[in-house]
Amino acid sequence: MTGGSGGLGRAVVYAALRGGATVTVAARSAQKLSALSAELAAAGLKGADTECCDFTLVADTDALLARLAAQGKPTDVLVNNVGALNDELLVTREGLAASFVSNLLSHYQLTEGLIARELLRARSVVVNVTSGGGYHFPLLAAMLNVTDPARHSGVAAYGFHKRAQMVLNQYWNTIHHDRGIDFYVMHPGWADTAGVQRSLPRFRELPNSISRDAEAGMDTITWLVAHRPAQPAGELVWFDRKIRPAHVYAHTRHTTESGQSLAKTLQQYLLDHKKS
Ligand SMILES: NC(=O)c1ccc[n+]([C@@H]2O[C@H](COP(=O)([O-])OP(=O)(O)OC[C@H]3O[C@@H](n4cnc5c(N)ncnc54)[C@H](OP(=O)(O)O)[C@@H]3O)[C@@H](O)[C@H]2O)c1
Repeated sequence: MTGGSGGLGRAVVYAALRGGATVTVAARSAQKLSALSAELAAAGLKGADTECCDFTLVADTDALLARLAAQGKPTDVLVNNVGALNDELLVTREGLAASFVSNLLSHYQLTEGLIARELLRARSVVVNVTSGGGYHFPLLAAMLNVTDPARHSGVAAYGFHKRAQMVLNQYWNTIHHDRGIDFYVMHPGWADTAGVQRSLPRFRELPNSISRDAEAGMDTITWLVAHRPAQPAGELVWFDRKIRPAHVYAHTRHTTESGQSLAKTLQQYLLDHKKS
């Protein structure tokens, strides 16, 4: 569970533990992770271990993969949940836009890394947490890693990442089909989490803008994992346990790019990181 110490991720951790799962909770702040461990113990919930990882850093995700491989612990369910909308442009010490790495590149790196290490086995499930923000933007690789402050818009960056997650999910379903791994992409609606309070304070003040709590927001994640419903080929998004269209505006269908070209772009970022 990435981004599991707060917000929707934390709600998934509670639900999974209550359902008897063993959960690896990966998040950035060691302090928040130990507070979560203490809360879980106080609630009598067993089966969680924690991994400190800053998913804005390729090196940190690499280190997490190495630790998981050393433990040799197979994963049946991966929830790529970590993500943020950064109003201010944050460029990491690795030279990449922090939100690009946390919202998309780390998901690619972790998923492909677990598959390559045979830690995500046949019959496993991957759930990618996208956002309705992706509905406004097409797939456009050139807009994924914008590090020039003059060209930065937090909302646009987030929307491009979230669109790319939808495309990547569909691509993964195609290329990893033979491994028996199911990939789902869902959006949670607007849930009142610290992420929304931090990134969209004005939106949050609008009447009826936030319609749900974290439990309601994450419900479709745990439902997908528990039911593993069949889904047609092609672009789609799950929302409130139902398949919804991946596009609501005609302009977002226009792209010369594809899931394959997106994966190639993401792979190239990882290769460039290795070389540097
Ligand atoms: N809430 C909504 O209404 C909403 C709507 C649409 C989509 N979403 C999507 O749902 C996902 C979860 O959102 P949320 O609202 O639950 O977020 P949140 O309240 O900000 O919670 C984020 C969680 O992720 C962790 N995290 C954040 N950045 C991290 C990083 N770089 N490395 C490791 N851990 C990190 C946080 O831990 P630390 O504090 O330690 O960093 C925390 O555990 C995101 O992908 C978001 O885009 C949410």
